[in-house]
Amino acid sequence: MDGVLHNAWYAAAWNHEVSETPLARTLLGEPVVLYRNRAGRAVALEDRCCHRGLPLSRGRVDGDAIECGYHGFTFDDSGSCIRVPGQARIPPGAAVRAWPILEKYQIVWLWAGTPEDADETLLPDWQVMDDPAWRVVKGDPPFHVACHYELFNDNLLDLSHLAYVHIRNIGTGAVPDFPIVTSRGDRTVRMIRWIMDSPPAPLYARFGGFDRNIDRWQYAEAQVPSLNTVWVGCLPAGCGAKPGDHPAAIGRGPGGRDGGGFEFFNLNAITPETDRTSWYFYAHSRNFALDDPEVDEMFRVELRGAFQEDVDILAAQQANMDRHAHKPRDWLDINVDGPGLTLRRMIGDAVAREREAA
Ligand code: FES
Ligand SMILES: [Fe+2]
Repeated sequence: MDGVLHNAWYAAAWNHEVSETPLARTLLGEPVVLYRNRAGRAVALEDRCCHRGLPLSRGRVDGDAIECGYHGFTFDDSGSCIRVPGQARIPPGAAVRAWPILEKYQIVWLWAGTPEDADETLLPDWQVMDDPAWRVVKGDPPFHVACHYELFNDNLLDLSHLAYVHIRNIGTGAVPDFPIVTSRGDRTVRMIRWIMDSPPAPLYARFGGFDRNIDRWQYAEAQVPSLNTVWVGCLPAGCGAKPGDHPAAIGRGPGGRDGGGFEFFNLNAITPETDRTSWYFYAHSRNFALDDPEVDEMFRVELRGAFQEDVDILAAQQANMDRHAHKPRDWLDINVDGPGLTLRRMIGDAVAREREAA
């Protein structure tokens, strides 16, 4: 795929999706088969046999190796062919591509670029996925979305859409009335909005049991190319939330639970599948009602319903752009588009640098 950054980690699968049964998934335009070897390590190989091109995912895992389901070529977990049925000689170059894999935060990450450059420190800090003080509900299975991944990036950095797309669950009409503050780091763009002294959104009223106005915050931090951490929460209005407050560390917000409100993290990883389709992995991690299956269910069902609304909007947007050959450069920009445009520029620059280096 052109126009994507290769030297980056992309979510390939939830950890529980990868097993001894091969999983086929197209990532950045490449056919990939994922499976676990005997040690339990996740493996990602090109899902295309070098003999006659059958997807290896149509075959079977045999110990550390995977056997093609057509004529039995067998590949070890580095992608080298180790067996050709009917002959002792393995033709030179008989291999499929293998990608570096990292398993962290309950996600199997694939490094799409130069293997030697794979660098674990390039993942964002999502320790709330593994911290027992936080309760995680994953979006399972990942959404398959009929849009270019950058449309999803835009969506997650412009939460003014809550007033329109999510008015029945996490939105209120007041959201766009409150301005955003934008900042950027080397590889990150941050969007902050405080929605002060406003009625709670329907789902917020249910989560927090509010019968009066709240102060609500949205902190979105997107990392190049498509990993976005959204920290949200609210307090009863007048309880001391200060616009501009920023958490000193994860979970140390302006009060959240202790102040009579609540907070949670929404972690998002968008992985390009093709130029027109993406995989959307998301999870919610909260530090309240840890052992409450009813709250789990609200996150699982209600928030999936809300995110389905994004998936539908984005597919319609992409379809309309394609139908009329409409490009991002034809768009009209307003204030709330700032963070998304910054991220687009940063991705564009990173892709250009990568191309130059190649
Ligand atoms: S296509 Fe895989 S062994 Fe022939
Ligand atoms: Fe949304």
